[in-house]
Amino acid sequence: MNDRVLTGEKLKEDSFEKTIRPTTLDEYVGQSEMKENLSIFIKAAKMRDEALDHVLLYGPPGLGKTTMAFIIANEMGSSIKTASGPAIEKSGDLAAILSTLEPGDVLFIDEIHRIPRYIEEILYSAMEDFTLDIIVGNDSSSRSIKIDLPPFTLVGATTRAGDLTGPLRDRFGIVSKLQYYNESELKQIIERTSRVLDAPIDEDAALELARRSRGTPRIANRLFKRIRDFALVLNGDSNVIDLEITTHALDKLKVDKLGLDDTDYNLIKSIIEKFNGGPVGIEAIAASIGEEQTTIEDVYEPYLLQQGLLKRTSRGRIVTEKAYKHVGLPYTKKD
Ligand SMILES: Nc1ncnc2c1ncn2[C@@H]1O[C@H](COP(=O)(O)OP(=O)(O)OP(=O)(O)O)[C@@H](O)[C@H]1O
Ligand SMILES: [Mg+2]
Repeated sequence: MNDRVLTGEKLKEDSFEKTIRPTTLDEYVGQSEMKENLSIFIKAAKMRDEALDHVLLYGPPGLGKTTMAFIIANEMGSSIKTASGPAIEKSGDLAAILSTLEPGDVLFIDEIHRIPRYIEEILYSAMEDFTLDIIVGNDSSSRSIKIDLPPFTLVGATTRAGDLTGPLRDRFGIVSKLQYYNESELKQIIERTSRVLDAPIDEDAALELARRSRGTPRIANRLFKRIRDFALVLNGDSNVIDLEITTHALDKLKVDKLGLDDTDYNLIKSIIEKFNGGPVGIEAIAASIGEEQTTIEDVYEPYLLQQGLLKRTSRGRIVTEKAYKHVGLPYTKKD
């Protein structure tokens, strides 16, 4: 189900992201607490002429983790090397990456929760003492060797902080959770994208789009591009993105006033109709709407929780009164 326009997950059509990605802390909109802290730690590290402490960034897809990793390297004046958890299959893969590091480099590992446990252990000494402990040779003549690494900064990103082991998590000096963006922050991001793509958007249109973007910059930017297409085809001019064409396009794309789409409705309605509004376990929800459990947990559910449409209890998920109203069903439950 990856063609969903409202998924925060990265789609092929998002390849233009590189061109609209902010490159400095100042350009990075929102997440003010994280930015303020990072800006101090970065300044201090530079004054001491040391590598920045390791940074863990976590939160739902599309909120700006990768973007922030690149900004950290840029602000530190360092090079960045990138790797991804699922691509690290053997301990040698990780050793190879670590051994290319230069002093002060940023090593960005995306989806860090997907590194296999036994490989993860190599990271412990690399992060803590800047040494690489590896076993060389075969069974009869194997020995462990230690290689010194230059001081570097590991920036790890994950949508599932809960899946990290304690020892790995503890080795990050700076841990930041990215929050959903509010309307005015998303509006600023949309206006920035509009300037970069040279496609002006009216202020009221930008605000409407901001409201319907699920608090997620990636979705705001993706919808912006779709709306620009509507403007070009229907008005013959992509340079007039006004409220009317914006509302029209979003309605056609089936993005509602709160930024919900069919999948969200389906999820909410099946909990109401099949499970009497909950509480119901995530496995049963996944089976009833035919989605992966992890996709529901990482991609769809966090926004519904944040909007107060869904509640998570020890006995399972519950649909709130607000959600009944929003999907137009009578609320018959008593709490
Ligand atoms: N704070 C921000 N200010 C401006 N633009 C942003 C911001 N955060 C994200 N973006 C935009 O959203 C796009 C997606 O962000 P990014 O790729 O960093 O998300 P992510 O959290 O790494 O997602 P994933 O979990 O899928 O890896 C970026 O290309 C960028 O254009
Ligand atoms: Mg990313």
